Amino acid sequence: MRQILVAGNWKMNGSTASIASLLDGIKAGMDKVQGNVSVAVCPPFVYLQQVASALEGSKIAWGGQNVSSEASGAFTGEIALDMLKDFACHYVIIGHSERRSLYGESDEIVADKYAVVRAGGLKPILCVGELLEEREAGQTEAVVAKQLDAVLARNGVEALADGVIAYEPVWAIGTGKTASPEQAQEVHAFIRAKIAKQSQEVADKVQILYGGSMKPGNAADLLAKPDIDGGLIGGAALKAEDFLGICTAA
Ligand code: 13P
Repeated sequence: MRQILVAGNWKMNGSTASIASLLDGIKAGMDKVQGNVSVAVCPPFVYLQQVASALEGSKIAWGGQNVSSEASGAFTGEIALDMLKDFACHYVIIGHSERRSLYGESDEIVADKYAVVRAGGLKPILCVGELLEEREAGQTEAVVAKQLDAVLARNGVEALADGVIAYEPVWAIGTGKTASPEQAQEVHAFIRAKIAKQSQEVADKVQILYGGSMKPGNAADLLAKPDIDGGLIGGAALKAEDFLGICTAA
C-alpha cells in the first residue's frame, strides 16, 4: 500500500504575515489527517527559514520549488541543493510546467536536476504533463513518455523508487478545469506501466500525484483511483481550510 502525499506548491505567493497564519491554520487541523497521508508545503525560497522554524517537530514536511543543477558558483539568482539542505528541506519540485514553459527548462535540464536532488539525499517531485493542444492531438502519452524517458535515461529506473512523480496536465493548472478522475487515472496507469516495463518493483513503489485545479470538492474522487497517490496543489494550498480539505479527503 503506497502512502498518500499531499504537497502544496505555493508558487510565487505569500508574505511573512500570510504564511504565518496559513501555517498556523494547517497545523491546527493536522489531527484530522489520517496516518497514511503525508503532508508537505513548498514555499518561495525566501520563506524557507520561517517555514522550517514553524514546522520543526510537526508532521508537515517542506521543500523547494526548484533547484539549480549546479553545486555553487557564479549563477546569479540560482539556489543550490546544499542551500535547501541547510533549511532541512525534504522535497524539491523539479520540472514544473511553469519552469519548463516560462524559463526554458528542457527535459535534459530537468533530468540533471533530478540527479542533483537525489545525490543530495532529498526527494524530487518530478512534474510531467501535456499542453491542451497536445492532448487534443492525441499526444498525451507520447509527451509524458518523452519527459519521463529523459529522467530514466539520465538516472536509471531505480532512481524513481524513492522519488515522486506529479502528473500535471498543463491545461488543468490554475484554470479551474480539472482532469476527470478517469482521465487522470488513465495517464497515471500509463506512467506506472511504462516504469513497470523496466522494473515492476519500482512501479509498485513510486508515488504518482495528480496536480491541476485539485480542490476539496474533487479530491476524494481523484484520490479514490488506484494509481493516484496524492496531489500537488497550487491555488487551494494557499488556504488552510482548502488544503486540509484535500488532506482529509484522502
Ligand atoms: P493549481 O492547483 O492552482 O491548478 O496548480 C497546480 C500546480 O501547478 C501545482 O504544482
